[in-house]
Amino acid sequence: MSILNEKPQYGTTRPQYERYALEYTSPEPDLLRQLTRSTHFVSTTPGMLSGHLQGQFLRFVSRMLAPQRILEIGTFSGYSAICLAAGLKPGGELLTIDNNAELSELAASAFRKAGLSDIVRMYTDDALNVIPGLNGPFDLVFIDADKENYTRYYESTLPLLRQGGFLIADNVLWYGKVLGKNAAGDKETRGIAEFNEHVRNDDRVEHLLLPVRDGLMMVWKK
Ligand SMILES: C[S@@+](CC[C@H](N)C(=O)[O-])C[C@H]1O[C@@H](n2cnc3c(N)ncnc32)[C@H](O)[C@@H]1O
Repeated sequence: MSILNEKPQYGTTRPQYERYALEYTSPEPDLLRQLTRSTHFVSTTPGMLSGHLQGQFLRFVSRMLAPQRILEIGTFSGYSAICLAAGLKPGGELLTIDNNAELSELAASAFRKAGLSDIVRMYTDDALNVIPGLNGPFDLVFIDADKENYTRYYESTLPLLRQGGFLIADNVLWYGKVLGKNAAGDKETRGIAEFNEHVRNDDRVEHLLLPVRDGLMMVWKK
C-alpha cells in the first residue's frame, strides 16, 4: 500500500506494513504508552508524537552510537527525547528545544518519571534563538520542528555536530507531499523539499533517506 494513499495529515491511519512491523517490535514501554495517552488529553495535535515504531528506531540508533551529547529541536511532549536518551553514555546529556510552553510541564514530568531530570536540559524558546548560544560538539542532532525552517536548523547545527556525528531529520516525506508536482504547494512542503535538495547537494555529508513512517533523513558528517 502506498504511503500516498494514507495519512494525509498528522493522523492515526497506518499503512499495513507499519502495523505488521509494530507487531514484530518489542512492546512500547509503559511510561511511553502513558505519555502517549496524556499527550492525547492535552494536545490538539497528538499525531506529532514520534510514536512507538520510530521511537524504538531512535532508541536503537542512540544505543548503537552511545552518544555523549544529543541536541533535539522539537520536544513536544518529550517522547522522542526519552527514546534518544536511552543510549546516552553515563554522564551524557540531551538538550531539547521547543517554543511552545503549553506542553513543557508534561514533558518535564515525563522526564522526571523516566529518571532523566538531571540529564535532559529543556529550552522553551524559538530554536533559531537558542541554537546560536549553544556550544558543541554534539554526537547526534534530531530535527523535528517547523518544516519551513529545516534548512536553517541544518545549517546552524551542522557546525555543532562533531566530525563523524549523525543528524536525523523527521518527516522528510511529508506524507508524500514532496513527491511530484505538489512539492511547491504550501510552505511546509516547500521547506521539506528544499531541505532534501540542500542535503543532496551538500558534500560535507553522506546521507540516507529512510522511508520509515514519514521519512527520516539520516546524515553523517564527514
Ligand atoms: C513534530 S513536534 C515534535 C515531536 C517530538 N519530537 C516527538 O517525537 O515527540 C514539533 C514541535 O516543534 C515545535 N516547534 C515548532 N516551531 C518551533 C520553533 N521555531 N522553535 C522551537 N520549536 C518549534 C512545536 O511546538 C512542536 O512541539
